[in-house]
Amino acid sequence: MFSRYKKPQGTKPAADAGKPADLKPVKTGAAPTAAPAATPAKNLMKPQRAAAQPVVMDKEKKRKERLAEIKLELHSRLLDNLNLSALENATESDLRAEINEIATEALNEMSIVLNREERSHLNQELYDEVTGLGPLEPLLKDEGINDILVNGPQQIFVERDGKLMQSDITFKDERHLLRIIDKIVSAVGRRVDESNPYVDARLADGSRFNAMVPPVAVDGSLVSIRKFKKEKLSIDKLVDFGAFTEEMAAYLQAAVSTRLNVIVSGGTGSGKTTTLNALSSFIDDAERILTIEDTAELQLQQTHVGRMESRPANVEGKGAVSQRDCLKNALRMRPDRIIVGETRGEEVIDMLQAMNTGHDGSMTTIHANSARDAVSRLENMVAMAGIEMPIKAIRSQIASAVNLIVQANRLQDGSRRMVSITEVTGMEGDVISMQEVFRFQRVGLTPDNKILGHFTATGVRSHYSERFRLWGYDLPSSIFEPMAAE
Ligand SMILES: Nc1ncnc2c1ncn2[C@@H]1O[C@H](COP(=O)(O)OP(=O)(O)OP(=O)(O)O)[C@@H](O)[C@H]1O
Ligand SMILES: [Mg+2]
Repeated sequence: MFSRYKKPQGTKPAADAGKPADLKPVKTGAAPTAAPAATPAKNLMKPQRAAAQPVVMDKEKKRKERLAEIKLELHSRLLDNLNLSALENATESDLRAEINEIATEALNEMSIVLNREERSHLNQELYDEVTGLGPLEPLLKDEGINDILVNGPQQIFVERDGKLMQSDITFKDERHLLRIIDKIVSAVGRRVDESNPYVDARLADGSRFNAMVPPVAVDGSLVSIRKFKKEKLSIDKLVDFGAFTEEMAAYLQAAVSTRLNVIVSGGTGSGKTTTLNALSSFIDDAERILTIEDTAELQLQQTHVGRMESRPANVEGKGAVSQRDCLKNALRMRPDRIIVGETRGEEVIDMLQAMNTGHDGSMTTIHANSARDAVSRLENMVAMAGIEMPIKAIRSQIASAVNLIVQANRLQDGSRRMVSITEVTGMEGDVISMQEVFRFQRVGLTPDNKILGHFTATGVRSHYSERFRLWGYDLPSSIFEPMAAE
């Protein structure tokens, strides 16, 4: 556990010490001083083209196609011959033996000889098909894969090491793909068809699943899976991966421990949930935390955690429980902190209210490309929720609710970094004032298209320095010194 600047035990601050209202305004200078001007190194190299793919031999391709046909044939025979209702009680070894027997018989009948490797592959695929999610199964088991994206039966993309690449795994046809989708959604009591063409669900292993079927999905069903990782990336791991520095981690530890309200902002798949989860590790174990998500992904390490998951309406359009419903209810459940997985709609009102009324130290994520953008998104969400309030009033609500905006980004080389940490410092006239405290400074690109850059403090003194000090977090001033220009 990250603990470089953890306060010494037993130095609890006075009950109210350090609440924003108690703090003397800290003069921080008008604008953050710019980080060392960086002249992006000229990238003289054009992005390299991928090496020419070895030409797949015709013979090999034909054999593969033939194997796919055999698999399909065998699969339908399996379904005919296996007693599906007895499957649930069969042990794995019984089932494997049964599958092997049926496959051997069928292959003999078709006079097909497979080598050992092909045979064991085939048996595994048939097993996956009968018990699991067919072609998706090996991808789900592959620890190195983060995301699985299916664009119709013939195209499956996976994200590995931050890079999207096409897998050579396919479904036989749209019917096959639909059958697997149906298997997933019916297991959670949902239905997907022409009248309900899209669905969110959670797989048995906790992975987040979304599917959209034709005709809304034009070229075949679309499936997106965000794999659930049991081992969440810890602060230490994220520092090791270069997502942010130890100094930034120390700052974030102080921010979370002293109950600043934090918003993690970022684009899709930029690492927002991962960051939120890692930040939550700084929360004291004695606190009661309530989490609210559309799909439960967060995995908090604390003892006292209540988890809520919103629910869409059922087929008759009834029984929906929105994030807002959960949040309203959460406020009656005596939480110390509330964590909302992603604020995307009308729950923003209750989130801001919670942050403003005693549930400080609350956190959420928001889909936005910069700290400024995150604030505009909040404004828009409030306006869309139908609250008739002058813009200045909305802004001042936001300014007093939100203390910190952490910007996550997936850079073009696939790396995920915390590109900015920005403090919300109040209002200046009609405008919310903010100051960036840390940023990732890009300086160029390596010949193999990896991003070159470094993290640096911007040189501004934290607006919350006094609060940190009062709560026992004496961050060395060196943390806030910008990195010398190279
Ligand atoms: N710094 C990192 N280094 C390597 N992998 C990371 C890093 N941060 C996140 N990931 C991985 O990237 C994937 C996406 O992360 P995450 O779910 O946190 O993104 P998100 O912004 O919440 O996405 P969404 O917008 O879909 O909710 C996950 O599989 C996660 O394990
Ligand atoms: Mg997320």
